[in-house]
Amino acid sequence: MLRIGMLTSGGDCQALNAAMRGVVKGICSKRDDVEIYGFQEGYKGLIYSNFKMLTSRDFSGILTVGGTILGTSRQPFKLMRVPDENGLDKVEAMKHTYHKLNLDCLVVLGGNGTHKTANMLREEGLHVITLPKTIDNDLWGTDMTFGFQSAVDIATDTIDKIHTTATSHSRVFIVEVMGHKVGWVTLHAGIAGGADIIMLPEIPYDINVVVDAINKRKAAGKKFTIIAVAEGAISKEDAKLSKKELKAKKEKQKYPSVAYEVAEKIQKKTDQEVRITVPGHTQRGGSPCPYDRVLSTRLGAAAAEAILDGDYGYMLGVKKNDIVRVPLSEVAGKLKYVDPKSSIIKEAEMTGISFGIK
Ligand code: F6P
Repeated sequence: MLRIGMLTSGGDCQALNAAMRGVVKGICSKRDDVEIYGFQEGYKGLIYSNFKMLTSRDFSGILTVGGTILGTSRQPFKLMRVPDENGLDKVEAMKHTYHKLNLDCLVVLGGNGTHKTANMLREEGLHVITLPKTIDNDLWGTDMTFGFQSAVDIATDTIDKIHTTATSHSRVFIVEVMGHKVGWVTLHAGIAGGADIIMLPEIPYDINVVVDAINKRKAAGKKFTIIAVAEGAISKEDAKLSKKELKAKKEKQKYPSVAYEVAEKIQKKTDQEVRITVPGHTQRGGSPCPYDRVLSTRLGAAAAEAILDGDYGYMLGVKKNDIVRVPLSEVAGKLKYVDPKSSIIKEAEMTGISFGIK
């Protein structure tokens, strides 16, 4: 008997169901004696032994369905070693559930925080296999995460829609794009949507350069400017502050999000009207795009292969369009940022996009 535990953890994204389907189809194509334990709402389900017994049928018809059939939750890594309100040691509880159910392995689908915990469980002796999910595409060790392309599609669609209304008005439109501390979604959606200015966390902006770019467009007879700003974008002044100083400053300013801060700065320095659009969680919603369906199916199938090989302790990732096994110890705790020196930045600049720097 092969006993597999499975959970989805952290913020959801498109293609989580497709990836789990890939794992289960892959395993069930080779083995009949499989038990699948679906832990509910991420690590919480493993901690409190809350699971559903699933069969391959439960994974049929979910390739195109957004969200996750297992539910998810955020269980911050830094709190994993902190006992819960009843004094329960969460790490010991997870190990206990795993051993009590006599699991052969645990399949974990998640992003950065999830991978830190997955690696800790590996260090504690559990057999763990992970899959890289996040719209942010910030996981180290893989060229691509599933969810990313679907989010880019949605953010691009938002910018496209803003374009038509922008052509009717002489305004500055700011579209705030998700991505946490990295700018992958903003960069790709910004280029795909034909944004005039792209503001990324990795390239701290100079507001005077942003304003110059807006004024230049106006002087050239262009009625509007579209800015794609990453939710983690930061000014060059703020980038010099310590974490503590920055936190104190942000708390004082009380902007709902970065788009409001940028809007106020622009409004102070230009005579243009500014409008803000925040697509927010729509970027994680809906059906996965075809690219993500293919990627997650491949990753899931490759995870099944690793499990059938009994080769644990890996995240499945993409390298040059091949699926590879990346040691969890190498993935955990590292972020994959946009490299400001990469050619995509130069190419975008060649087409007239400003990144808010000289
Ligand atoms: O990590 C995915 C993500 O959507 C980020 O882009 C965003 O910063 C965050 O999750 C939002 O988290 P929550 O759903 O907890 O508000």
